[in-house]
Amino acid sequence: MSYERDNIHRMAGYTWGEQPRNPGTIKLNTNENPYPPAPAVKAALGSFDVSTLRTYPQPTADGLRDRLAAMHGIARDQLIVTHGGDEALRLAMTTFVDPGAIFGMAEPSYSLYPVLAEIQDARVVKVPLAGDWLPAKDFVDILNDAGARLACVVNPHAPSGMLLEADAIADLARRFHGVLLVDEAYVDFVDPARNHDLVSLTRAFDNLLLLRTFSKGYSLAGLRLGYLIGAPALIEPLVTKTRDSYNIDAISQALGEAAVGAREYAAETWRQVREDRERLRHGLARLGLEAPHSESNFLLARVPVGSPLDAAGVYAELKQRGILVRYFAVPRLDDQLRITVGTAEQNQRLLDELRSLLS
Ligand SMILES: Cc1ncc(COP(=O)(O)O)c(C=O)c1O
Repeated sequence: MSYERDNIHRMAGYTWGEQPRNPGTIKLNTNENPYPPAPAVKAALGSFDVSTLRTYPQPTADGLRDRLAAMHGIARDQLIVTHGGDEALRLAMTTFVDPGAIFGMAEPSYSLYPVLAEIQDARVVKVPLAGDWLPAKDFVDILNDAGARLACVVNPHAPSGMLLEADAIADLARRFHGVLLVDEAYVDFVDPARNHDLVSLTRAFDNLLLLRTFSKGYSLAGLRLGYLIGAPALIEPLVTKTRDSYNIDAISQALGEAAVGAREYAAETWRQVREDRERLRHGLARLGLEAPHSESNFLLARVPVGSPLDAAGVYAELKQRGILVRYFAVPRLDDQLRITVGTAEQNQRLLDELRSLLS
């Protein structure tokens, strides 16, 4: 007999990205920033006063919250700091979706969404993306007809890197009857020339939440820091009711503040990643692996029909050779590989190994 709730007993749980056993492995499978955190973060860790750990941290991470709010030109009550973007998603699910109610998502996207819905015992409506990885025309209608209370759209999209413009997001928010969470985990890598900024939309739409993370842009996946931006009425129940009592530890608060203070450093890593992404995309295309333009720090490359190895085979062989990329054994993605943009040297190693595998 099991003591678990039925829905927990039935569910499988989230599958983490593979962690390399060998320290020399080139890890291009979980979209981390290939560059280290800012020197200011290292300095803040070095000077952190351990004696302050005796007492609880500031409960709502207000120092960091205020810095982030100032950076985005919003007020403190429009933002909550969370334990990674993943906690932000969990909070949205537990706050806005009743057990048994509908959660909506575009498919394919982040595989944690349906897992969180299962934990909440919510029902999931997955709406397939159109051929260009953008939401289908009837995306919102399908979700409204199903009565979805919350929907997640990842933008730039993962795993394709496709960016939905602000106008299109505004249209989704305007028409959707529930809370629309736009997961901007990779937004830092968007070309600044596109002037892509959804923050002002959160003033216009009281049902729009934006998710951000320090994991990718700020090279701090190991720290677990993220945040949500939205109308005060959406943020308030998360801050006062559903988050853990002290969800951000004191070290994360201090290092997060240091990272935001050193945003220029992070922005330089984003520029470098964008440059290397284009070089890698062209290098892959020369080997026959076409990847659509990406506004993120990864590429979704198709292994051409007739290659000596299919995508699963390429993934397995690369792993043998010490390079991890992401293979999804699911319809529409099973002939492709999602490849995180690494350093120039890592990308070159990848291209060299691919050349020897596919020639
Ligand atoms: C689309 C997407 N959203 C959110 C996250 C959560 O990131 P984190 O919990 O590390 O902030 C990830 C992590 O890979 C992601 O790919």
